[in-house]
Amino acid sequence: MKRRFFAICCALGFLSSAAGQVPAEEADASSAAALMDALMWGQEPIGGPFELIDHTGARRTDADYRGKLALIYFGYTYCPDVCPTDLQAMASALDLLGDGARAVQPLFITIDPERDTPEHLANYVSLFHPRLVGLTGEAEAVRRAARAYKVFYAKVVLPESSDYVMDHSAFIYLLDASGRYLGFFPPGTSPERMATIIGSHLKSLFPDTQ
Ligand code: NI
Repeated sequence: MKRRFFAICCALGFLSSAAGQVPAEEADASSAAALMDALMWGQEPIGGPFELIDHTGARRTDADYRGKLALIYFGYTYCPDVCPTDLQAMASALDLLGDGARAVQPLFITIDPERDTPEHLANYVSLFHPRLVGLTGEAEAVRRAARAYKVFYAKVVLPESSDYVMDHSAFIYLLDASGRYLGFFPPGTSPERMATIIGSHLKSLFPDTQ
């Protein structure tokens, strides 16, 4: 996929700002670090309710995705590098699970709702997996969802340009069938590793199946 922007976003899931770029919004480094700590060391509950709009334009809440395991990834469609790589890994993990994948709902929540309209998301998610759901919404609704998952993101305007990229943390979250947070996969987790861990949760969810 061709991307117009430099590959600066979400390197290794940690924060990155290329030299010479000025955050357009106040990117609070201590807040970013606090979010990272809360996630990495389990200092606060992770996850929570959300109210967003899916890539078909339908209003969706977290409750719509109960009854299956859920994989949630926060990113944005203009991401030049890491987001497509991670979404591809998610899709490959689902392929490895075979029939079991039907009990797993993959979700992609944009942290760039300004550009990621439902229509734009619809084109994007179909590139990765037929059941990948894209979610967007009002900026405040997206912010609340991201905060619940301790996701850091900030707009970075490219020098002498009106284009921007988004700095953001990049983790793949795994939820159980009741929407409870189970854990996260760090960036670079192999599809095989993801499939193994998801598969073990599927076995406890559906003990009668393989
Ligand atoms: Ni990204």
